Amino acid sequence: MSFLPGLKNGEVIDFSQRSLIVAAASIAFNPIFWNTVARQEYHSKVLTKLFRGNSKLGCYALAITIFLLGIFRDSLYERALRDQPTHPFFTGAVSNFAAIVLFIAGNVLVLSSMWALGVTGTYLGDYFGILMDQRVTSFPFNVTDAPMYYGSTLSFLGTALWFGKPAGLLLTVEVLAVYLIALRFEDPFTAEIYVRREHEQKAAKKAT
Ligand SMILES: *[C@@H]1O[C@H](CO)[C@@H](O)[C@H](O)[C@H]1NC(C)=O
Repeated sequence: MSFLPGLKNGEVIDFSQRSLIVAAASIAFNPIFWNTVARQEYHSKVLTKLFRGNSKLGCYALAITIFLLGIFRDSLYERALRDQPTHPFFTGAVSNFAAIVLFIAGNVLVLSSMWALGVTGTYLGDYFGILMDQRVTSFPFNVTDAPMYYGSTLSFLGTALWFGKPAGLLLTVEVLAVYLIALRFEDPFTAEIYVRREHEQKAAKKAT
């Protein structure tokens, strides 16, 4: 195909690569894993029990697991990109510049969000009964409600552009999709946890 010069068989994305499927599976698995574990913790305190009643330790263990799964997923993503055709449209200076800007913006959102929330706030502490004193509204939460997720998505997008891989764009769309689905599960659940605490605090006040 003349309009896609330099591509093997004119392919934009090589769907025959196993690494692409593996990366896609890993991207979907991570939020499913942490939502499942966090809900189990909330309903039956599995991790708190595992750490002999120490919910903070349980939350740290989950945090480390999620963090490592994230690194593993990122390495599978990069490996998948290496096996994919490069598209000449994404190899210019403009694309490279956009890649750097997106990657930095994404990491600023992720890191500043972790800084604002702390370890337990970032990694589902609310499900362990470790609640924030109040809602965090400072940067980056004045820019977006879910800086972790949108920041991570931007980093994936930046990486796809940097390596000039259309397959990376497809996986980035998947990343955004699984995060949007995760938010639909997490947001109402978290809101409910905080409403419940408010009721309990009111009840406690009445009792005294
Ligand atoms: C968010 O807060 C930061 C730091 O306080 C500030 O510089 C920025 O302008 C704010 N952004 C918005 C959209 O309000």
